[in-house]
Amino acid sequence: MKLAPVITIDGPSGSGKSILSQALAKNLEWFNLESGIIYRLFACLFLKKNPIFSKKNLISLLEDLNHYFTYDNGIICNIIKKSFSENDIVSQEVTKVASQLATITYVRKNLLIKQRLFRRKPGLVANGRDMGTTVFPDAIIKFFLKAKLKYRALRRMNELKKKGFYVNFKNILLQIQKRDHRDTNRTDSPLEKAKDAIIIDSSNMNVTEVFKVAMSYINIIKLSSL
Ligand code: DC
Repeated sequence: MKLAPVITIDGPSGSGKSILSQALAKNLEWFNLESGIIYRLFACLFLKKNPIFSKKNLISLLEDLNHYFTYDNGIICNIIKKSFSENDIVSQEVTKVASQLATITYVRKNLLIKQRLFRRKPGLVANGRDMGTTVFPDAIIKFFLKAKLKYRALRRMNELKKKGFYVNFKNILLQIQKRDHRDTNRTDSPLEKAKDAIIIDSSNMNVTEVFKVAMSYINIIKLSSL
């Protein structure tokens, strides 16, 4: 049986992968997976229920996490976020803890299975840090989004400001640097460009421009498969 096609978008925080992923999925009428939300949800559970980094505790929390997905014939359809507010999910504490939990191999292995269950027809656009390298290495097209640190920090600051958080640019810059370092240097599936990924530098591009560039690559694939 032929598996549903996948398009992957990886990149660091603030590179614009979530918004591109949503736009591509909408345009193609495919499903969209925001893998960072799974790590964030896990961090929310950890902070709320039992913030202890022991293996026993984390394994029990990973089991609890199963209640946060809806399944249809064994295939995950949706992530249930309603137990936590949008502000909890994007808070600086959850952001930091999600990145810390993401360094733990057995946590990643467990979440990898959950992420693969999102693959369904007609197709999936998946964004994160290791979508093209580890989770969906057979993706039909892989993008790696990057942008200068200054622009990524500005985007994150504006995003948080819109949600009503008080933010300081220097702090945001430092936090992003720390997170980049942790996400890039962990031993298990670090943030890195897949060998066959197309790099898009979004530093000086708006959302529509990035979308157009990505769609032009997707259209080439579509034409060549006719
Ligand atoms: O994309 P995000 O900022 O919502 O992700 C939050 C954290 O989750 C990120 O710092 C690292 C982790 N993560 C990961 O390790 N692998 C992914 N595929 C997605 C997120």
